Amino acid sequence: MSLKEVDSTNTFLKNILSNSKPVPDGTVIMAETQYAGRGQRDNTWHAEPGKNLTFSLLLKPGFLSAQQQFDLTRAVSLGVYDALYPLLRDSLKIKWPNDIYYGDKKLGGMLIENILQGSQIKNAIIGIGLNVNQENFPDNAANATSIKKILQRDYELKNILAEICNHIEAYYLHLKAGRFEYVRNIYLSRLYWLNEQRQFKSNGQVFEGVIKNVEDNGLLVIDQNGGEQAYNLKEIEFLNK
Ligand code: BTN
Repeated sequence: MSLKEVDSTNTFLKNILSNSKPVPDGTVIMAETQYAGRGQRDNTWHAEPGKNLTFSLLLKPGFLSAQQQFDLTRAVSLGVYDALYPLLRDSLKIKWPNDIYYGDKKLGGMLIENILQGSQIKNAIIGIGLNVNQENFPDNAANATSIKKILQRDYELKNILAEICNHIEAYYLHLKAGRFEYVRNIYLSRLYWLNEQRQFKSNGQVFEGVIKNVEDNGLLVIDQNGGEQAYNLKEIEFLNK
């Protein structure tokens, strides 16, 4: 379904899930404009109307437990990655946990909202924002880039959407078949700053460390002088020079 304007495609999907008849697995809600787009960590997500992809995909991963939520994050991140790889090649990275980066700039992000039933994931609302044809970004989004800024041409949003959905489906099927290790290994290999000596901040302290791994549950493992420590999203900040 394609909407002209909506507050947030994630919120819209959540509302129709709780209000109406069953919503089929694989439903996609796409919006030309979101006036209250939501990002990670309670941020807002801004995108120039009509120029970017802002959509939500509904999956019903009843085979995944709440403890396996990060495997879904991996599958979705890799689906976006694989869809863009033919265009953007090796500068494309996944910044833990699920930002899509080109070089040191953010091309897109996702907000996955899982609805649990008992210990299983009943519904996953997978919201994806990807900067495609937008050329100018506000000063407070100085770190943002778009496919157009990188490749100097416009892309058809619907085509990129279809590629993303196809590739997410492929990884989703790997999970469904129990190939978690396969997906985990590829995810790790695509990570921004993997095995590089970099600066981070945690608890007000700046330190140098090396990303070594992502635990099954999604914690980021950083090696600091031979000692490894695992962090969650709220505990760690990447410091770009
Ligand atoms: C991030 O902070 O990086 C995540 C951004 C997620 C934005 C997308 S746009 C479509 C969907 N609807 C929302 O309100 N947010 C997500």
